[in-house]
Amino acid sequence: MNIFLTGSTGYIGAHAAVNLLTFSPEGNLNLLVRARNRQEAWERLWHAWQLHVDFPLFRHWMETRVHTFLGDLTSSRFGLEEEAYRELVRTTGSVIHCAASLNRRSEKSCLNINLRGTLEMVQLAMRARQDHGLERFSHVSTVAVAGQRQDQVVQEAEAVDWERSDYDPYARTKKYCEHMIQELLAGIPINIFRPSIVLGDSRHGRTTQFDMVRAFVFLARLPFLPLRPDDRVDIVNVDFVAEAIARLHLDRTPGVRLFHLSSGAESPTYRQLTGVLAQKQNRRPPLFLPSTEKPFVSLVDFLAARRSLGISRLASLMKVFMPYLTWNTVFDNRRVVAELGHAPKPFTEYCYPLLQFSLENNFQFPHVPWPQKKEG
Ligand SMILES: NC(=O)c1ccc[n+]([C@@H]2O[C@H](COP(=O)([O-])OP(=O)(O)OC[C@H]3O[C@@H](n4cnc5c(N)ncnc54)[C@H](OP(=O)(O)O)[C@@H]3O)[C@@H](O)[C@H]2O)c1
Repeated sequence: MNIFLTGSTGYIGAHAAVNLLTFSPEGNLNLLVRARNRQEAWERLWHAWQLHVDFPLFRHWMETRVHTFLGDLTSSRFGLEEEAYRELVRTTGSVIHCAASLNRRSEKSCLNINLRGTLEMVQLAMRARQDHGLERFSHVSTVAVAGQRQDQVVQEAEAVDWERSDYDPYARTKKYCEHMIQELLAGIPINIFRPSIVLGDSRHGRTTQFDMVRAFVFLARLPFLPLRPDDRVDIVNVDFVAEAIARLHLDRTPGVRLFHLSSGAESPTYRQLTGVLAQKQNRRPPLFLPSTEKPFVSLVDFLAARRSLGISRLASLMKVFMPYLTWNTVFDNRRVVAELGHAPKPFTEYCYPLLQFSLENNFQFPHVPWPQKKEG
C-alpha cells in the first residue's frame, strides 16, 4: 500500500517526499500533481526535488516507486478519470496532506484550495477506509491556527481557541481544516503537524523558497528595527520539519496526535539574531526602535498599495509577515523533540549561509533543467 502525498512540488512536500522514499526503502508514493501529462509532472517534480537528489536517483524513483496522479485539489475527485480515482483509492494505505494555498491575501484561494481541497482529501480517505482500511491521515497545518496572540508560549492542546480572532484567511481556513479532519475521520490515527515559520535548511544555505527570506534580508539591512530586541521569533529549519513529517507518519502510534514543528522556548531573540548577522558581516548591529512599529506598518501598507513605486511586492510581503514578527509568541515543541530525540537547529546557527545564498543568487534557485536526450 502506498502513501498518498499532496504538495510534493512545494518546498516542504518535496523534502518530505524524498525523506519518505529514503526512510522507508520498501514504500511507494502516490503523488497528486498539477500537470497535463506524466512528463510535465516529472519535470515539475524534478524542479522541486533537485535540491535534495541527483537526476539518476530521481529518475529511478519515478520509474519504480512513484505513481503520479494528474489532478487538482479544487476539482471533484481531483478531476481524475473514474478509473484513475478508483486506482488511487485502491492503492492508498495512508495519507499526508501537505498541499495548501499560503496566499494570505486571497480569501478565495484559501477557501478553495485549503477548505474544498481538504474536504476532497477527507472523502478520499473515507473511501480508502471503506475499501480496505486507512492506516493514518497526517495533515500539515500551521502554528497560525493559534490566532492573534501576544507574548505567549502556546501548547499544542490549547492552540485552537474559537473565541480568538485569526490573522488572515490562510490561518482561518487552516484552523477549520484541522477541525474538519478530526470531526470527519474519527477512529483513524491522525497526525496534525503545525510548523512555525519554516526558513532554510540547517545543513546548507540553499533554498527554493524565498518569500520569507526576502523579508528577512530586508529587515537585516535596516539601520534600525521597529521591533523589541528581546522578543522571540519562532523559526524552524525545513530539514527538521520534513524529518518530523516523514518519521511521525511512518510510526504506528494510534490516536490523534498534535505536534508543533517549531523552535519553541529556544527560539532566538531579535537581539541574538541581529548580533550574529552583524558579526558575520562586520557591521554594527541595528538600533531597536519599537516605538516606530506603528508608523513602520503604516508606511508598509502605503507602499504595498502603490504599484508604481516598484517596491510594492516587498512591501506586500512585509505587510503579510509583520504580525508574525511582532507577536512575540513561540510554540512549545517538547513533544516533537521527545519523539525525534533531537531539537531543531537554532536559526542563529544557519541564518548567515541562507542569507549569502539568497543574495548571491538574487533570490532564485539555479535550477538544472530536465536533461535533454543526446542527438543520434
Ligand atoms: N512554508 C512555511 O513557512 C510554512 C509554515 C507553516 C505551515 N506550512 C504549511 O506547510 C505546507 C506546505 O507549505 P510549503 O511552504 O511547502 O508551500 P508551497 O511551497 O507553496 O507548496 C504548496 C504545494 O501545494 C500544492 N497545491 C497548491 N494548490 C493546489 C491545488 N489546487 N491542487 C493540488 N496541489 C496544490 C502546490 O502545487 P503546485 O506546485 O502545482 O502549485 C505545491 O506543491 C502547507 O500546508 C502550509 O500551510 C508552511
